[in-house]
Amino acid sequence: MTGRLHDRILLITGAAKGIGAAAARMCVAEGAIVYLADIDAAAGQTLAQSLGENAHFLSLDVTAAADWDAACAAIADRHGRLDALVNNAAHMVIADLAQTDLESWRHVQAVNVEGALLGCQTCLPLLKHSDHGSIVNMSSTTTRLGLPPMLAYTASKAALLSLTKTLAVDFRYQGLTIRVNAILPGRINTPMLQMTERLMSGVDLETDPKVEELMAEMHIGHPEDIARAIVYLASTESAYVNGTEFVVDNATTLG
Ligand SMILES: NC(=O)c1ccc[n+]([C@@H]2O[C@H](COP(=O)([O-])OP(=O)(O)OC[C@H]3O[C@@H](n4cnc5c(N)ncnc54)[C@H](O)[C@@H]3O)[C@@H](O)[C@H]2O)c1
Repeated sequence: MTGRLHDRILLITGAAKGIGAAAARMCVAEGAIVYLADIDAAAGQTLAQSLGENAHFLSLDVTAAADWDAACAAIADRHGRLDALVNNAAHMVIADLAQTDLESWRHVQAVNVEGALLGCQTCLPLLKHSDHGSIVNMSSTTTRLGLPPMLAYTASKAALLSLTKTLAVDFRYQGLTIRVNAILPGRINTPMLQMTERLMSGVDLETDPKVEELMAEMHIGHPEDIARAIVYLASTESAYVNGTEFVVDNATTLG
């Protein structure tokens, strides 16, 4: 199969649903061999099976170092390299300062920041075997806004952005051909946003029969809008794009 990701080996976390699932579909369609990693084994396995022989499910909790070791060992055995790591898995909690307890704060940081850190650390030896390695970290346009009910989440996405830029420079200084970029999506209709909107605005983006009209009114995007940015950053087309904040939000953070 040919395509923009022909023969490239990708690992996408949080690939069972939402943006990760759309990215897995699109990357396989573009010729990649994709490892879909998620804690939701039922949804992840079903999706991987539906995508054919170039899609493989990995049961992986991004906070568990042992899961990362096992995933990288499996990819090393089969391919000896990894071309792109997409740190997409995340956990969202709706809580402001008064409602935030340390345990939930720490869990959000563990999944959204430490999960990506572990991924970068564990996958680095495999990425070094790629001619054009790429790490894509899923940050958020919430890093540019003040959103009181998303305290822990926005802080985690800002930390991930900082990690992205620092690693991009670090790897370039080391002479590695591994780029590190962040995508900052606006609001995208996924299970995460559906949960958030139900709680915050009472809008049901999952079952409302006029969902497409609602999305247009609210300037909400589709998971595929972000999947296209992932394809670009995971491919060699973006060879000179490094350390960037790739905002994909239909200008909603501008006004
Ligand atoms: N949907 C949006 O509006 C939006 C906006 C900005 C940024 N983002 C970011 O995009 C990414 C994907 O978001 P989404 O909306 O598709 O989310 P989602 O909640 O719909 O899907 C997230 C996936 O991550 C998995 N996951 C959760 N914890 C995990 C863990 N510990 N280990 C492995 N997998 C885990 C879930 O099982 C799920 O399949 C996230 O990083 C999110 O912060 C989303």
